[in-house]
Amino acid sequence: IHEPQSQDSLLSLSVDSEGLQKQIDELSTLSETPAPSVTRILYSEKDVLARRFIKNLMGLSGLSVREDAVGNIFGRWDGDEPELAPVSTGSHIDAIPYSGKYDGVIGVLGAIEAINVLKRSGFKPKRSLEVIMFTSEEPTRFGISCLGSRLLAGSKELAELLKKTVDSQNISFFDAARFAGYANHLQDLTSVFLEKGSYSAFIELHIEQGPILEEEGWVSSFLMLLILIIAVYLKNYDFSYSHLVNWFAFSLATSIGVVTAIAAPASIKVDFEGSGGHAGAVLMPMRNDAGLAAAELALAVEKFVLESGSIDTVGTVGILELHPGAINSIPSKSHLEIDTRDIDEKRRNVVIEKIHQSALSISENRGVKLSEFKIVNQDPPALSDDLITMAMESACQELNLTFRKMISRAYHDSLFMARISPMGMIFIPCYKGYSHKPEEFAAIEDIANGVRVLALTLAKLSLA
Ligand code: GLV
Ligand code: MN
Ligand code: MN
Ligand code: MN
Repeated sequence: IHEPQSQDSLLSLSVDSEGLQKQIDELSTLSETPAPSVTRILYSEKDVLARRFIKNLMGLSGLSVREDAVGNIFGRWDGDEPELAPVSTGSHIDAIPYSGKYDGVIGVLGAIEAINVLKRSGFKPKRSLEVIMFTSEEPTRFGISCLGSRLLAGSKELAELLKKTVDSQNISFFDAARFAGYANHLQDLTSVFLEKGSYSAFIELHIEQGPILEEEGWVSSFLMLLILIIAVYLKNYDFSYSHLVNWFAFSLATSIGVVTAIAAPASIKVDFEGSGGHAGAVLMPMRNDAGLAAAELALAVEKFVLESGSIDTVGTVGILELHPGAINSIPSKSHLEIDTRDIDEKRRNVVIEKIHQSALSISENRGVKLSEFKIVNQDPPALSDDLITMAMESACQELNLTFRKMISRAYHDSLFMARISPMGMIFIPCYKGYSHKPEEFAAIEDIANGVRVLALTLAKLSLA
């Protein structure tokens, strides 16, 4: 019989902030581009080193480590009732070209530290706790986002697709995986699939990647300053009062985002082919310029997104390549990759349909061939689980941290874990909402708060 434990000892949860910051900094040096940028591409040499770093930390925390055929890494702390579905938490450590050192990383290093915090506090889990580091949340190398979690959630299409997937250097997915020590004997990726119900909960800690939490912090700090000035003016300012105000200001300025839903992402690859030719000799009426077709489609994406009438609809052409790429040669081929998202799936699908129609008519009007129009993924949104968000909210209250509910406009492995497990996400503020660029920054105090909320939520859900 399991004895109910008091969670009081958990309220003083002390995070080793210095150690955690050191780990974040050290991991950021495993990068293919110079600091402050971070680039860590799936199954590269740096990725392999980073994976070793994570497995080592999991081992130091006393977790038993397992890896699956694509390199999702699991570190488990057995609970008193290990036959119950465990509570899991985690994120990714791959980093898109020239990005920062916090995206994904704090959800992995922070999760390991949350386990350390619980161990130091003497906590005994009932359900086992598991930290997961997902393979390739970012689509950089093979064009597939959330590769590891998509497979875990049982995507048969992806298991098939990966058999013929190559990167831009024509290296197959399997060769790349073997380089990193995975997929050795195995072409059958269905071994990665997890059954629905494998976890009783999944939680991801992540930087907000948007400005809302930080801006609210400033508003609270400003109000506190105002109170302080009034107190001084009224001349009843003494030390104990200043102490109170400081504490209050700090607790107000620190906010946590409790994510209620993740917006629906989609991505599309497009290729146009024209006849190319000499930039001087071929006169304008004779051209079939594949580059201009791409440019026209890129502007059309912006137009369709704005036409939705909602601020929540977004679209980006992040990749635009011209062949042969010479100043005096009319582009004979062009390649675009389009990312479009919305919290409303139907509205996003309307945008996709408009992009398709536009690609067809551009191809006709310009006499270029639309040689590919491929919807790589068209994912539905995901909702957080009410019991998990409630557990997070009470964790915030017990830890005296302010919080607000919010949606995630970025996608995360949580989008796919939600298919096999109740899901929730914890956001922490980040500097100006910057992400996917080297200026990305999160203060260690905010990270530590996120870790404490994560630890207390894991504890609650483990005993549930
Ligand atoms: C993931 O990094 C995303 O683009 O939301
Ligand atoms: Mn990212
Ligand atoms: Mn991320
Ligand atoms: Mn992301």
